[in-house]
Amino acid sequence: MQIGIDKLGFYTSDLYVDMAELAQARNEDPNKYLIGIGQAKMAVIPPTQDAVTLAANACSKILTEEDKKQIDLVIFATESGIDNSKSSAVYLSRLLGLSHYLRAVELKQACYGATAALQLAKGHVALHPDKKALVVGADIARYGLHTKGEPTQGGGACAMVIAANPRILALEDTCSYYMDDAMDFWRPFDHTEALVDGKFSANIYVEFFQKVFEAYQAQTGIRIEEFKALLFHLPYTKQGLKGLRAALAGVDPLVAGKLLRQFEFSRQYSRQVGNLYTGSLYLGLLSLLNLSDSLKAHERLGLFSYGSGAQGEFFSGLLMPGFEKMLDPVFYEQLLAHRKQVSVAEYEQIFSALDMRAKDLVLDVSQDQAPFVFTGISEYQRQYLAR
Ligand code: HMG
Repeated sequence: MQIGIDKLGFYTSDLYVDMAELAQARNEDPNKYLIGIGQAKMAVIPPTQDAVTLAANACSKILTEEDKKQIDLVIFATESGIDNSKSSAVYLSRLLGLSHYLRAVELKQACYGATAALQLAKGHVALHPDKKALVVGADIARYGLHTKGEPTQGGGACAMVIAANPRILALEDTCSYYMDDAMDFWRPFDHTEALVDGKFSANIYVEFFQKVFEAYQAQTGIRIEEFKALLFHLPYTKQGLKGLRAALAGVDPLVAGKLLRQFEFSRQYSRQVGNLYTGSLYLGLLSLLNLSDSLKAHERLGLFSYGSGAQGEFFSGLLMPGFEKMLDPVFYEQLLAHRKQVSVAEYEQIFSALDMRAKDLVLDVSQDQAPFVFTGISEYQRQYLAR
């Protein structure tokens, strides 16, 4: 029985800041951000969106009433949690109107969380092939104003329905994973911004990729030319390119050229959004599926997931016949094209408005047209609106 990704959805806020403008405001050469980091626009997440609403908005695009009846597992991967005890999965399940007869949990290992969720969901569906699992990765990447990490912020969510006989990507069984205790990126309690050893994180990401890719190849005997595309966690798109270049060292230039070409399709959405943390790898997958001009059924995609701290995994999947019928490239083109640009001053004001400690808060949601919005806090209880 094949199990894998049956549906894939994405949402980000309707605001962005232009990276050339941000570079100018930070006295940097715009090409450092545009080429050196590889980012053109960065999502700005307003106070009326949080991990829960970003996830709900991503889910609302893909879920049918039939899916909702069949889903009996919801795994919410995030490192932008909104409560130390109650899981975001419970809020999400209620907002989406899912059945009460399900398991709802939140899961954390930095940006790797959604991949752990995907593999756990696969195991669940193997035991219960008549059921479906909902996996989401939703985050807001924050390093702080005027920090080195600032141009690698962003935010949004990816949602996936995991099912038997999937219609997009069947997951292959062999995956290789590697863990080590590393202080490359972390966020202590009470910090709303991550702490990071940037250069170390960039290097350890590539080291982990090399370890798990080699292990995968040793286990399967699958050669690099047998992949149509290699997809990477994209904290910023240049980082994925560094990973890919490590894989291409000594590879036939024809094969390398083909993989580099597919990588360009996979990084287009992230270039315009920034880091989604947990969702980034899957945004790359969506970008490839929607934009590549040459994907065919039965072709193999390789995926590298990395979460600081640190955990890496390489796994693969086969494109299913008719996968293109499950996509909606025009919708995502419009979602990204119709966002409103904010100035650097407006972005700074929105960034600084985050308040995770309020007891009571009333937010004006009139400017946020998303189907799900965060309306405020009452007696420390978060309030949401489904339109
Ligand atoms: P920095 O020190 O300001 O940048 O911070 P830099 O000086 O290293 O320059 C960046 C690149 O731009 C360099 O290219 C420069 O050469 C180039 P590289 O050597 O890397 O190929 N450059 C230019 N290119 C063209 N024209 C120019 C120009 N000037 C310079 N004029 C850094 C960069 C990424 C370190 C910083 O933004 C940061 O700390 N970001 C956050 C950490 C991060 O994203 N790490 C990625 C790996 S860890 C990960 O993926 C996990 C994560 O998602 C978290 C999680 O798991 O939850 C982060």
